[in-house]
Amino acid sequence: MDDRQRYDRATAHLDPPFAVLDLEALRSNASAMARRAGGKPIRVASKSIRSRPLLERILAMDGFAGIMAFTLPEALWLVSTGLRDVLVAYPTADRTALAELAADPVAAREITLMVDSADHLNLVDAAIGGLPHRHEIRICLDIDAGFVAFRGRFRAGAHRSPVRRPDQAADLAATIAKRPGFRLVGVMAYEAQIAGVGDDQPGNPALTRAVRLMQARSRRELLVRRGRVVQAVAQVADLEFVNGGGTGSIDLTAREKAVTEVAAGSGFFHPRLFDFYRGFTGRPAAMFALPVVRRPAPGVVTVLGGGYHASGPPGRDRLPHPYLPHGLRYAPGEGAGEVQTPLLGPAAHDLRTGDRVWFRHAKAGELCERFTALHLIEGEEVVETVPTYRGEGRTFL
Ligand SMILES: Cc1ncc(COP(=O)(O)O)c(C=O)c1O
Repeated sequence: MDDRQRYDRATAHLDPPFAVLDLEALRSNASAMARRAGGKPIRVASKSIRSRPLLERILAMDGFAGIMAFTLPEALWLVSTGLRDVLVAYPTADRTALAELAADPVAAREITLMVDSADHLNLVDAAIGGLPHRHEIRICLDIDAGFVAFRGRFRAGAHRSPVRRPDQAADLAATIAKRPGFRLVGVMAYEAQIAGVGDDQPGNPALTRAVRLMQARSRRELLVRRGRVVQAVAQVADLEFVNGGGTGSIDLTAREKAVTEVAAGSGFFHPRLFDFYRGFTGRPAAMFALPVVRRPAPGVVTVLGGGYHASGPPGRDRLPHPYLPHGLRYAPGEGAGEVQTPLLGPAAHDLRTGDRVWFRHAKAGELCERFTALHLIEGEEVVETVPTYRGEGRTFL
């Protein structure tokens, strides 16, 4: 039985739209990720999962420890439900959440905030200054891991931290160390230009060559710089962890001596954008089904909904991928629609009203903002249905 038949059979009792997760594919992806990390723990990027029961399931597997959250309210919620060791990977300006963090001993023990300047410390102080007793706030220093060439005229990677050089990191580390109420416990340097950019772009050999060249140079530069930054910060703080990497760079980042843990999330679901890497493969684990609701012309079917575009630079690669049956494509003038999506191609001839089309999202966790639940498939059966963040009434971003 092929995957399409298996998914159709397992979900025959459900009416689309709905989202599913193939547990066997998830386990296979997770163990491949753990192998790539070569014994270093993987901190699970919650933005790429966005389901609490799933985070718990993943953390129970070998090779995974701690959560990389995307907002402080999310981190507070996760800790209140019993999850531990949560690194908020992006700075926060949420005064209410900061006050809650400083007032709660468990949250203050389990959550680490990200900073890249004294401004962030000032913001925390302003938010919690009025508290009669504040718990010490754990801090991680965000380092720019981007790639810069041609005297700064070319840049690849995410615009994150202004802190790049070892001396800049040492200065900020010293500022944090001197400041009452804060404890510097970690360093993070996320190389988005390697971890999040596929180096095997089909049909575009020039881009593929350019990406590979940039990534090779960036890796060499970062290997040295990240080591020096960590050395400099370690002069003023007892570091508990040094975090780096993402799904696309697990093996390479984990090999660096200065790195104690890698972060990854997308690899569990293996969304469409992660098909374009040479270094690893995964199995599509997360999908959503849409119903065929009409057949406007021979060779055209229309499914309900579908416009679940992924974040990032706008482009065709951000659209969901019509996955099963194979051989479907978007109508050029319509794309993935707000309420209906026409699909063309040979497979459309055999689809009847009421059939389903299975899609993969371009990215991982964003899928969960569209659905309240994920149906977990084992073999030919749905064995459990778990809520997404949205299903628990939580939409953080
Ligand atoms: C700080 C940080 N670390 C790691 C990752 C990698 O996440 P993923 O493995 O889901 O690509 C990201 C993704 O944006 C990130 O922002």
